[in-house]
Amino acid sequence: MIDPATIERILDAAEISDVVSDFVTLRKRGVNMLGLCPFHNEKTPSFTVSPAKGIFKCFGCGKGGNSVNFIMEHENLSYPEALKWLASKYKIAVVEEEESEEQKHLKDERESLMIVTAFAQKFFTRYLWEENEGRTIGLSYFRERSFRDDILKKFEVGFAPDGKTPFTDAAQKQGYRIEYLEKTGLTIKRDDWMRDRFAGRVIFPIHNLAGRVIAFGGRILKDDKKTAKYLNSPESDIYHKSRVLYGIYQAKREITQLDKCYLVEGYTDVLSMHQAGITNVVASSGTALTPDQIRMVRRFSQNITIIYDGDAAGIKASLRGIDLVLEEGMNVKVLLLPDGKDPDSFAKQKGASAFLEYIKNNETDFIRFKTQLLLKETENDPIAKAKLITEVIRSVAVIPEAITRSVYIKDCSRLLDVDEEVLYTEVRRQKYKQDEDFRKKEERKMVSAPKVQQEERTISLPSDMLTEDLQFLRFLLKHANAVIQLKIKGSKEAFETTVKEFMVTEIEADELVSENPLFQKVFYEVADHIEEAGFDPWRYFIYHADGEVSKLATDLLSDKYIESKRWKKAGAYTEAEEDILDILIPRIVNEYKLSKVKLILDEIEKAIDAASAANDFDKVIEEQSMYMNLKRVQKELSDALGRRAIN
Ligand code: CTP
Ligand code: MN
Repeated sequence: MIDPATIERILDAAEISDVVSDFVTLRKRGVNMLGLCPFHNEKTPSFTVSPAKGIFKCFGCGKGGNSVNFIMEHENLSYPEALKWLASKYKIAVVEEEESEEQKHLKDERESLMIVTAFAQKFFTRYLWEENEGRTIGLSYFRERSFRDDILKKFEVGFAPDGKTPFTDAAQKQGYRIEYLEKTGLTIKRDDWMRDRFAGRVIFPIHNLAGRVIAFGGRILKDDKKTAKYLNSPESDIYHKSRVLYGIYQAKREITQLDKCYLVEGYTDVLSMHQAGITNVVASSGTALTPDQIRMVRRFSQNITIIYDGDAAGIKASLRGIDLVLEEGMNVKVLLLPDGKDPDSFAKQKGASAFLEYIKNNETDFIRFKTQLLLKETENDPIAKAKLITEVIRSVAVIPEAITRSVYIKDCSRLLDVDEEVLYTEVRRQKYKQDEDFRKKEERKMVSAPKVQQEERTISLPSDMLTEDLQFLRFLLKHANAVIQLKIKGSKEAFETTVKEFMVTEIEADELVSENPLFQKVFYEVADHIEEAGFDPWRYFIYHADGEVSKLATDLLSDKYIESKRWKKAGAYTEAEEDILDILIPRIVNEYKLSKVKLILDEIEKAIDAASAANDFDKVIEEQSMYMNLKRVQKELSDALGRRAIN
């Protein structure tokens, strides 16, 4: 095995034109270089090298790739052999060895942070259960609050020994580097001193979706008004507070099965609800809900009930955030607990069934809740009331379903004591304005497709992949880390996300990942690296060890692809692509989804035929209802694309 750092050095050194020049005479041609292809016989050069992209491509025979691929092909070598060939050309020493204890330090940065974090969790947990200090102070604290052992184990809670650096000392003794202890915030280090961040606190590890620990919350045990009750890990390459939900790993199965998610505020709320037997629960850990967090929930269920502490001050501030997600089709409910209660104390007092009963009887639809809350402030003030109507209708107007909208209008009409017709007019006005804004913005930004007269040359894209799939991948790879502003239909707000984040979560949430194996290979590798800030899919896939993958990436990223007929069919936007991503990306995602929905509809049609031929009417009805649902989705997608629905 050649270690990743060495591979990195080889790839950095092996400049494509330099490598190719050993075998092919190249002439400059614009930003690229041109020569006679070494892989097939030709008289006019069609072998192109792009130093900027680090790739070669022959438009005569279709071969293409990075410098490693070139050597593999030209010298008939395997991937590691080609790497070694290049290493010797650039005098880079390759030491091959088994992974040793020392090499854990060489793993990439993120992995190192994960490893140190995993060690810390094990250390804290062991300390809680096995060490005298942990048991008498930490464990007895949890027991006083009547948490059961099985719950403490399920959440892997722990205790950090008190003192200056007992944890840091232990970690360093085990070979963990101070650099990573510092980057994960476990150790606080200044020029001439350091100390353990969590010393003397009980520890709540925070897990990511896959169950790996990425951060900690530490609660102080004394009632000391001057010190913060909770200390949390700082933001790092592996921990982004706004994208994490506490407890999601322990709750995701249950959220899916019950098709419902409870959202509470604190760590102990989550634990207590689990203890009471309510396990489809996550916590936002004291922050207002973010769009990223909502999207994470949406992967598992559309139904979310937000449970506020009885004394919650931040409710109003959180309203706006919730508005942003109504449009995503989430069904948001709100529950206010009695004064002075939080889910922790309430669950302990009531037990599961009484708690669930209370939720059932008291959870309020979000729009109704918002209306009532705002209404309290507008008594006898007509101007404030007019503003309130606009505000409430804004939430209504973003709801995709007309029927749902009309239910809300009835409701709001009663609550606000305003004629339904007035509200309908307001909805229409707002919807019109939303559409108009959207259209204008699009017109301004859209460049009309340039006329391309190019003959179709050999871009050997996989023919079994849909145009929509190819288009999707092209944008995903090319613009992965670009930040886009997505407009929330129905409001002036926009939220920021990266292209990769948006494209991956959109498709995963809807379970519409293409069946094509090559597509899946690329897609899931991007998804696996989604939290890695510096991950650049372009570079990553062009240098991919799997020849099929690196070839696809090379072809997709080659300019010629955009000029090819298949791309033209999908709508060519060559020049200012980077400048109009805000509009292009949602459109490309929708086009992709639409193509998948069409495939599924075809399948269902076949299933209905088969079932009715077999006189299995239960099955027919079941399939038909699925069919109707999907038709609705299809219509929404076509509407969003400004197309007439296909019947
Ligand atoms: N929080 C925080 N920092 C603080 C206070 C609170 O990060 N100084 C976060 C924690 O994630 C906490 C959540 O906000 O769990 C809710 O705060 P609070 O209701 O005060 O704490 P509880 O979870 O109820 O904790 P406990 O039951 O131990 O008082
Ligand atoms: Mn609380």
